[in-house]
Amino acid sequence: MDGNGRWAAKRGLPRSFGHKKGAETVKEITRAAGEAGIRFLTLYAFSTENWQRSPEEVSTLMGLLRQYLKTDLQELRKNNVRIRFIGERDMLDADIVAAMEKLEAETAVNDGLTLCIALSYGSRQEIVNAAKKAAALVQKGDMSVEDIDVKLFSDMLYTKDIPDPDLLIRTSGEQRLSNYLLWQLAYTEFYFTPTFWPDFNKNELTDIINDFKTRERRYGKV
Ligand code: IPE
Ligand code: MG
Repeated sequence: MDGNGRWAAKRGLPRSFGHKKGAETVKEITRAAGEAGIRFLTLYAFSTENWQRSPEEVSTLMGLLRQYLKTDLQELRKNNVRIRFIGERDMLDADIVAAMEKLEAETAVNDGLTLCIALSYGSRQEIVNAAKKAAALVQKGDMSVEDIDVKLFSDMLYTKDIPDPDLLIRTSGEQRLSNYLLWQLAYTEFYFTPTFWPDFNKNELTDIINDFKTRERRYGKV
């Protein structure tokens, strides 16, 4: 979800306006994804690197998040959406983590769209943590080095029990991964659109899904 700041700058508005508008887009796209029959939608809301933004901007984003956890996500709860969070929780304020855990617990039985929100998320950190978990099990004697395979390693990531994405969409014209799901995107189809996230909408999502349907996925085979 990239381009909130540039969307605002283009209109001579403070960056925070872009973030507010971007939060509206989250609602629209979550609803549209559910309607399109998508089972899992993962949104990159805040990266581990985003902590390095100005304290004002970080606090605006955390404020929006607090509000989102209280209102919009509560609404999704009623719409059969299962909510999950991935990322480094210890970096977040305790009240935010408590609200996240509550939402996860309350929506665990929902069987509609799974909305996975990457918050304070960094893929390299996730992979290093998984390696540490595996190493600790070996050290304790609970597992041998030979037991470590792709499946076991995948299960040590935050995305355990969430399938690898079929399609990655990055908005705002940037063509890079920015430390996002590096392991999970091994065979994902990529789509880059110049649209800033606040302008992204259901119609464009539908067009991109249709483009995705024309792709031939070979997974290294012929
Ligand atoms: C994406 O928009 C939202 C977050 C990363 C929180 P940006 O804030 O990155 O917007 P640009 O890239 O400056 O336009
Ligand atoms: Mg950006």
